[in-house]
Amino acid sequence: MNKAPLHIIILAAGQGTRMRSALPKVLQPLAGRPLLAHVIDSAQALEPAHIHVVVGHGADAVRAAFAGSDVTWVTQTEQLGTGHAVQQAMPAIPNDARVLVLYGDVPLVRPVTLRGLLDASESGCALLSVNAADPVGYGRVVRNNAGHVTAIVEHKDASETQRAIKEVNTGLLAGRADKFAEWLGRLGNDNAQGEYYLTDIVAMAVGDGVAVAGVVADSEAEVAGVNNRAQLAKAERATQQRAADALLAAGVTLADPARLDVRGVVSAGRDVFIDINAVLEGDVSLGDNVRVGPNCYIRNATVAAGSVVHANTVIEDSDIGPDCQIGPFARLRPGSVLKGQNKIGNFVETKKAVLDEGAKAGHLAYLGDATVGKRVNISAGVITCNYDGVNKHPTVIGDDAFVGTDSQLVAPVTLGERAYVAAGSTITKDAPADALTICRARGQKSIDGWNRPSKDKS
Ligand code: UD1
Ligand code: CA
Repeated sequence: MNKAPLHIIILAAGQGTRMRSALPKVLQPLAGRPLLAHVIDSAQALEPAHIHVVVGHGADAVRAAFAGSDVTWVTQTEQLGTGHAVQQAMPAIPNDARVLVLYGDVPLVRPVTLRGLLDASESGCALLSVNAADPVGYGRVVRNNAGHVTAIVEHKDASETQRAIKEVNTGLLAGRADKFAEWLGRLGNDNAQGEYYLTDIVAMAVGDGVAVAGVVADSEAEVAGVNNRAQLAKAERATQQRAADALLAAGVTLADPARLDVRGVVSAGRDVFIDINAVLEGDVSLGDNVRVGPNCYIRNATVAAGSVVHANTVIEDSDIGPDCQIGPFARLRPGSVLKGQNKIGNFVETKKAVLDEGAKAGHLAYLGDATVGKRVNISAGVITCNYDGVNKHPTVIGDDAFVGTDSQLVAPVTLGERAYVAAGSTITKDAPADALTICRARGQKSIDGWNRPSKDKS
């Protein structure tokens, strides 16, 4: 095992013109996070001494998006080529280091592949290549009769014979810092694109008698670059397939692994079932036997063991206790806490609402800034009027209270334990424990001989 400190350089200065976006390319989201975040993750998995990110186009936006992360930013003011980009990072890298070059727009490469590349670079230098179905546009890996790598020739500089080569350069490269610094110092830009090519150091290494190992990646998909929206969409599907595979391997049943989107980190207990078209975002934790119905969106939430999230439910920044029934068509907004054995039915919205064990809201209700006691029944059409247009106010409902249909609880207001609110009441004052409280604005009357309106005959 090589003890030289590992310094990783991530190239991310390019514009990404083909994305046709105002957003710098490396900030385009893949599985809900910037492309560059995926590359930094893979880099960090190698436990390097340091990560250097070379930025140029949209540098301020890129730095801002990663504020607080443990990387060093290197600015490449003019994009004069990949060799020039790497050169900008070299002054901060000690001579005895190992260097690994990654691309900010090659997000799917796995740490295991990078470790293989690093191991192969013990010889002095190693590049990662892949056999491409369509090599057009890529640098070709030129090998001699003995199979040793002798050079990389960019597509635009390649001869007809070289263009027939299917083995292409992925751009990922590893080697000794002292050698890299020396070779980079000798780079010229006398080529078809007038750029300082990082790839030219391969022929220099060979010229200096340093063997260059060519490590061939398993699949094109893993080392694919993202240059346009079509490639981004492909990378997204590949990332989602990996997320689905990880869940399946962890024992989760997926109705269709191709119809699940994970945009964050999902942990799941035993025998979890996820139906089609779930979107799971941020940190989502699903306990044992949790079932998620079709078309659910769950973001930053825990769902404890035995709970069922029925179809078309939206849950954000909420904690669901055990054995709850939620939805179909429920919306739990931030700050919703269900302690357990709760039922939240269709068209019920909660926001900053804490429901103690066994409390139920079966249909058509809004509970905001509410504390709801154990076994409380919230009937259809109950609304907490928590907002006076300026401030929010709390509603507190005692254990075993019953709130009849179509009642408005005008906050701040408290209902005592076992309070019973009659249907259609507008409650503006606290309702005592163990009593029926009724407040209907008008008396009921019936008008005899009343005629229904008829349709205008114009
Ligand atoms: C490069 C390789 C080519 C390889 C291909 C794989 C060179 C000369 N060629 O070509 O052999 O097959 O990648 O995709 O290296 N970048 C900078 N600063 C620059 C130029 C580029 O940061 O001045 C960054 C880009 O943002 C990008 C990466 O380097 O992340 C690659 O640059 P790109 O222009 O896409 O390289 P290619 O010409 O495609
Ligand atoms: Ca490219």
